[in-house]
Amino acid sequence: MATHITPCSSSSSSSSLTFSSEFNVCKPRKCCFSKRVSQVRPRILSRNHFQIKSSNGQPLNAVSMQDVLFGLGMDGRPLAKGIKPEEEEVFFDFSDPEEVQSTLSIAVVGASGDLAKKKIFPALFALYYEDCLPENFVVFGYARTKLTDEELRNMISGTLTCRIDTNENCEAKMEQFLKRCFYHSGQYNSEEHFAELDSKLKEKEAGKLSNRLFYLSVPPNIFVDVVRCASLKASSANGWTRVIVEKPFGRDSESSAELTRCLKRYLTEDQIFRIDHYLGKELVENLSVLRFSNLVFEPLWSRNYIRNVQLIFSEDFGTEGRGGYFDHYGIIRDIMQNHLLQILALFAMETPVSLDAEDIRNEKVKVLRSMKQLQLEDVIIGQYKGHNKGGRRYPGYTDDSTVPNNSITPTFAAAALFINNARWDGVPFLMKAGKALHTRRAEIRVQFRHVPGNLYKQNFGTDLDKATNELVLRVQPDEAIYLKINNKVPGLGMRLDRSDLNLLYRARYSKEIPDAYERLLLDAIAGERRLFIRSDELDAAWSLFTPLLKELEVKKIAPELYPYGSRGPVGAHYLAAKYNVRWGDLSGEDS
Ligand code: BG6
Repeated sequence: MATHITPCSSSSSSSSLTFSSEFNVCKPRKCCFSKRVSQVRPRILSRNHFQIKSSNGQPLNAVSMQDVLFGLGMDGRPLAKGIKPEEEEVFFDFSDPEEVQSTLSIAVVGASGDLAKKKIFPALFALYYEDCLPENFVVFGYARTKLTDEELRNMISGTLTCRIDTNENCEAKMEQFLKRCFYHSGQYNSEEHFAELDSKLKEKEAGKLSNRLFYLSVPPNIFVDVVRCASLKASSANGWTRVIVEKPFGRDSESSAELTRCLKRYLTEDQIFRIDHYLGKELVENLSVLRFSNLVFEPLWSRNYIRNVQLIFSEDFGTEGRGGYFDHYGIIRDIMQNHLLQILALFAMETPVSLDAEDIRNEKVKVLRSMKQLQLEDVIIGQYKGHNKGGRRYPGYTDDSTVPNNSITPTFAAAALFINNARWDGVPFLMKAGKALHTRRAEIRVQFRHVPGNLYKQNFGTDLDKATNELVLRVQPDEAIYLKINNKVPGLGMRLDRSDLNLLYRARYSKEIPDAYERLLLDAIAGERRLFIRSDELDAAWSLFTPLLKELEVKKIAPELYPYGSRGPVGAHYLAAKYNVRWGDLSGEDS
């Protein structure tokens, strides 16, 4: 995969037009969102945990202020006279098919790629299955490969699953969904081909108000070309147009800023939905709920009670097949600078003014900007090497045919980060991310301080660290939240035992957990930006890592080798020990 970011100046000589930004919000049929309805009751209410609004302050599914000011309704027809937006909320009866005059077109650009096949189409189908997509919608696959609509349907049908409710008529649903899927083959930099896509979309939209979502599942070097062509030739004429982009968003501060600058020639910030799929994961979404809606946690959330925080990501497989992409980025850019740092920001931010996207993102930016510049001595890097186990050969990173033999790209990294603010001063936030390790897991571990003057300290021997409470949020697999506590072993005598207060999701909730992409797609359709990365967040994240990444490259720091399937380089232990920390995942206490 090419990795160079196309400078926007070379992409086009066309003027810098932008898509129209915010118009009406398409109606999810079965509301996956809570609605404030004045005259009309929605058919089904769910997601009633809090009210989600779009980031411009409008309740989702209501008509945007802009339209109200222009006097237009969902269908583009004038609103009834006498409605004053400041005083009354304007709602529509979405359950009446007569009123449903808007359409949603989702264009998956890069439709024949892995991400599209494995994640995006299945997520769209799951949303359709759950009745979360609007009445009128179509999905268009767009890629260079020549395919017919039928061929696209065959290609994606293999990856659609009916995991949500096997009792319902899944086959029929799948058929209905596939009938809404179409394909257009074209070059990514061809305005002409995007104009053809536009004609096909218009045909399907049949003159209704059209909202368009472009999902860019393409390598970063063609982001800008696609955005240029789509914006100039295939943006919606009367509804909103939004673009979802996947990382990598550059490979350092400069290239990221350049990419943002180029995208903004064609899009407003509001139209860019930068995905970090970890933000769509159930446990990450629950982090704020846990913290802000439970009295027992928030008062402890500071340097006064927390000794250290650990953010751990590990995979039990190597780059296998993705070496070409990965070698240019490495584990720090691939996992730490985005997924783990996003979790850290959510974990450590101050209480936001509200749950609105801008309020949350403001707090995240603030905490990221309060972080101490990452130092080389607070980072260790590793790379997996080949290993024989059980009569099987596990290849080393450089055995991958798409990786140069002399590559020093890290496949493992551990880092100690610090936040220079009153809440977190001196608390180490340890991150660890690696491929080809002994297990696959992602978790957040919070180790609390020792109990002052602990009456039971003689029961713990000399290692008081082992007696501290630890809160673990296991993001995956087998989602769980558990708190390690000390407990008396029942019976005569006084023996203490470490036990878990355990919220194991599969034991507590029967419903399967939606894939992160489902949540994120739904939010993008609804115009909800809370889980997407704003450009200033991205800048702050890059500022933290860029000097370190440059230093590693300039000094050609060689990674410490670790065997495929092991627990990673020992350097990670020394780094933790430097801050009196022990990695919780290696304590042997967890199952
Ligand atoms: C991606 C990385 O962002 O996340 C991959 O580029 C990694 O290298 C993947 O494998 C992990 O995602 P998940 O959801 O499987 O944990």
